[in-house]
This record gives sequence, structure tokens and C-alpha cells, in this order.
Amino acid sequence: VAVGLGAVAWPSRHVAAQAAAALGVPLAVPPASPAVTPFAAPLPRPPVLTPVAPFSTTCPTDASTQYYEIRSRQVAASIIPGLPTPVFAYDGVYPGPTIVARTGRNVVVRHRNELADNIVVHLHGGHNPPDSDGFPTDYIPSGGFRDFCYPNTEAAATHWYHDHTMDFTALNVLQGLAGFYLIRDDVEDSLNLPGGEFDVPLVFQDRRFNPDGSFFFDPLDIAGYLGDRFLVNGVIQPFFPVARRKYRFRMLNGSNARFYHFFLSTGQPFVQIATEGGLLAAPVTRPSVGLVPAERIEVVIDFSVYPSGTQVFLENCLVQTSGIGPGPVNRSQCTPVLRFDVGGAAADPSAIPRVLRPFTPYPLSEVVATRTFVLDFAAGRWTINGLPFDASRVDFSPRVNTYERWRFANTSFTWAHPMHIHHDDFQIERRNARPPGPHEVGFKDTVSIMAGEAVSVLMRFSKVGRYVFHCHNLEHEDVRMMSVFEITP
Ligand code: C2O
Ligand code: CU
Ligand code: CU
Repeated sequence: VAVGLGAVAWPSRHVAAQAAAALGVPLAVPPASPAVTPFAAPLPRPPVLTPVAPFSTTCPTDASTQYYEIRSRQVAASIIPGLPTPVFAYDGVYPGPTIVARTGRNVVVRHRNELADNIVVHLHGGHNPPDSDGFPTDYIPSGGFRDFCYPNTEAAATHWYHDHTMDFTALNVLQGLAGFYLIRDDVEDSLNLPGGEFDVPLVFQDRRFNPDGSFFFDPLDIAGYLGDRFLVNGVIQPFFPVARRKYRFRMLNGSNARFYHFFLSTGQPFVQIATEGGLLAAPVTRPSVGLVPAERIEVVIDFSVYPSGTQVFLENCLVQTSGIGPGPVNRSQCTPVLRFDVGGAAADPSAIPRVLRPFTPYPLSEVVATRTFVLDFAAGRWTINGLPFDASRVDFSPRVNTYERWRFANTSFTWAHPMHIHHDDFQIERRNARPPGPHEVGFKDTVSIMAGEAVSVLMRFSKVGRYVFHCHNLEHEDVRMMSVFEITP
């Protein structure tokens, strides 16, 4: 099965997993990617998508609505010099173009599918109506389109949009269907954080390449995809010229199954200012930062502490040799993924305010239900409470405008599961009976549940509708480690 994409009809991973479990099919031996020279290419910034003229749509609109159109199609990306890589690209760009939205202002995105197979588009982090959320069977057929209505009621945050096709999410995201969606608001504007060209999104993805430059992908590998090359914004180990001043980085783990733990090679700490749901109550200074698949954090790095000419590496020091999950952080086995080249001085009127955004913990006294979700492995695939995803089954039904406690219990000894809940953000209540660290006290939509861990989160349901939650190891998701909940009136 170690063949380039496009050569075969890919079996659904769900079916492949069952076949592999039944037959004991061995995994392909992955190729080593063609050699590349690291730090030879600059860090690109995904282009910001330009709005289009208003079009007729069933989405709610008003005079302030921004309209966008995105065509998903296959293009050749130049990632390894001389070896074009076929990618699935939102609007022909890999990673996809960045949408910049504003709180309180509607966005309508018309997604056109010019690929050969069904796609589904999900705005990860978005608090969107159910029919715009990208339920895994809300297919956009090849040649078709679908309008997504995004009210942007949430606070400023770093979201991302990506494919969510039932059984094929891992393949489609791996092939390139992922992009940033940023929401800005007045609170953020008032804080004077580094902005404009000093506000930089970074998506981290690992990939393995076939000798012809195409992405290697093994549909029978249900443990989780690991690449042997590290890409930032679609480029293998880029360099980034920076001025001697503060920068804001929006860090997204856009990898299928790889976990990261980052250090700066100089030992300088990161100042974390945000989680997935937006700004923290106050900045948190951290010597290193971890990112599980789909997780986002925002940090500020001040390069004015270095003389010009300094090279600072962003290093991943988390050893991971299998999709099962990461090993330990090992500072003698780091891989530099991005190099900052410190240049000249620059004016820096920006600040890191001591107070960012007020945070109010959810009232425990109002929690009306506690639900436990056991993350397990049965009959050759991962399950939640013993069940695989079924698009036609509703697993449970919380009531709108109520609070609940969801407790994730990972009963395995080895597997790591980054769990993600759609639509409403959560607050972490306890990790293994202890309160979360300060960098996790905020609104989140993705949380790591490592082997043997139990994590409880508090939910508040703000809208009626049917949504999913799932493991964001995309190979686990595609063997249907996903549940459906329907928020009822
Ligand atoms: Cu980022 Cu349900 O996904
Ligand atoms: Cu999501
Ligand atoms: Cu998992």
C-alpha cells in the first residue's frame, strides 16, 4: 500500500481498520523522505483571503456581512526543490488562505469542491449553527458548493478550518485542506499587542514524502500518521527574519497525530497570552510549550533581548516514534523546526499588558449532569464508551443553556487521545484530580488525555443542534473515535 496518492481508490479507514484487524495485515514500510537542506527557504505567511462581492445566499446577512468564496482543488506545491507535491488546496493555496473575521460581523463562505471526491468543511473553534458546522456527513459533492454561515459571536481567537469528511479526514487534511480563521475584536484591539506584520500565524505539520515528492500515506495505519519532515506554514524547516522587537505568534498544531513540545534554543521563555478560545486572564511565562493535535496557543517573543545577527531556533524536544502517542520531552533529542534570524532594531510601541481579558469560572453549583466518556480500544479500533461513530445515532442530549461536567477517562496504558468538542468551548476543571496549570485556565476546545489520565471539563451549551466530539488524532477519528450529541431546547 506504499504508493503515491492518486494511483488507487483509497478504502475508508473505518473499513480498512476492520479488515486489518481481521486479517492481521502488516503496515507498509514507510519510505525515508528525499533529502532536503533545512533553513534554506523563508517562512511564508498564508495569504489573507480577499472578500468577494455579495452573492445570494440562504445565510443571514446584513450590510456588514463579509462574503468569501473558496475553491478546493488539486495543485502542485513546491515543497521539496525539483519534486512537485500534489496537494488538495483551499483556493489553490497550501496551507489554505487566512480568513480574518470580526466579532459580531457575519461571514459567509461559499466552499466549492473542485476535487474528485466528497469534502466536508469544519471551522474548528467556531460557535456556529449546526448546518454550518461541517457534520461529517454534510458532504459537498465533487462539482458542488455549500454556503457556511458564521455569525462570529465569539471573542477574538485563533480558529482554523479543515476537512471533516467521515472516514477521510486524515487523508484530506494531510493532503493540505487546512487554513487559519482569525477573529478579532475590540478588547484585543485595546490591548496594544504586537499587530500587523508582527502578528504571525504558524501551523506545524509533519509529513513523509515518497521518492517522487508526493505525500506518503498508508490507509492501513490506524495508529496515527507521523512524518519525518517538519513543516511550518507548508515549508520544511524555514527561516524567519525578525526585527529586534516583540512578535505575537499564533501556534497551531495542524498535524494528524504528532504532539510537539517547543523550546527556544536560547532558553528564553515564551509569554503565553491565549488558548484556543482566545486571550487568557493574564500572560503566563513558560519555559516551554506543548501542543497536542489541533491545539492552539498564542505567545509573545521579544527579540530585542538579542544582538542583531543572533539565530534563535524553535525546537521540538518531544520524542515521538509512533502514532500511539509521544514519549518524554528530551532536550538532547530536539529537532529545530524554525529559525529566527534577528535583524536590526525596530520601533516597538506594542506591550504585553498585565491583564488581558477577565475570566469567570463556570459555577459548579449549576452543573446539572456529569457524563463519563471512557476512551478505549475494541475490535481493532478506538471507541468512546465502547461505541464507534454512527452518523445516524445521537449518543446523548444535553439541554441548552445548562452546564455539564464531562469526564474523559483514558483507560489505556499507552495511547494518547487529544479530545476536541465542537461548538462550545470548555473550561478544564481537573486533570487527574488536580486543578489545571495557569496556561490551561481559559476557554479551550481541545485537550490532551494521555494514557491513564482522567480529565474533567465544564461545558455550557449555548445553542440547539447536533454536533460531534472526537479524538483529533485524525487516524483515530477516521476509525470513528467520535460521538454525536444533540443539544435540545
Ligand atoms: Cu478540528 Cu471535529 O475538528
Ligand atoms: Cu472542531
Ligand atoms: Cu485518539
